[in-house]
Amino acid sequence: MNTVLVAYATKRGSTREVAADVARVIRQSGAEVEISPARNVKTLDRYQAVVLGGALYMGRWHKDARKMLKRHRAELASLPLAVFALGPKEITPEAIEKAGAELARALAEVPEAHPFSTAIFGGVIDPKRLHFPFSRMQAGDARDWNAIQDWASEVVRGFSSRSTP
Ligand SMILES: Cc1cc2nc3c(=O)[nH]c(=O)nc-3n(C[C@H](O)[C@H](O)[C@H](O)COP(=O)(O)O)c2cc1C
Repeated sequence: MNTVLVAYATKRGSTREVAADVARVIRQSGAEVEISPARNVKTLDRYQAVVLGGALYMGRWHKDARKMLKRHRAELASLPLAVFALGPKEITPEAIEKAGAELARALAEVPEAHPFSTAIFGGVIDPKRLHFPFSRMQAGDARDWNAIQDWASEVVRGFSSRSTP
């Protein structure tokens, strides 16, 4: 594992914060890590592994994450890939299953990309930053930083076992 890209697709920043924490954990393993908004990624040439995270909105994985997968489908066919989605306001089995299905739908559009690990993390609702009627949603932050860091460590192990000598 040499240089890892951690790309993210966000509207209001909570997914960027998760991506930054994932990047920090991967960096601790000794890998070089670059972090970038998914829409700014032009090439995967210099990466040996990729993490892509995106927020879920209205039942869909963020457009920038979906577009990045499509844009780089050929390169992603042969790169170790791990993906995550952010969204549910409560971490219940039903909410995880629903969000997982939303992520799976996006991944099914790009069969060349086959992540070895996918994760769903709780999301953030900040009604002050939302327009009516969403401004009436209950505030909350369901991100579980321990779960995020555990997943990032698992991803490091997955990358290491898949890296080419
Ligand atoms: C209008 C709106 C629609 C949302 N739709 C979904 C959804 O369909 N599924 C889900 O799991 N989370 C949904 N969420 C929760 C977001 O994914 C969550 O707020 C996330 O933290 C946003 O990430 P961001 O700050 O990176 O944009 C929605 C949030 C808003 C405000």
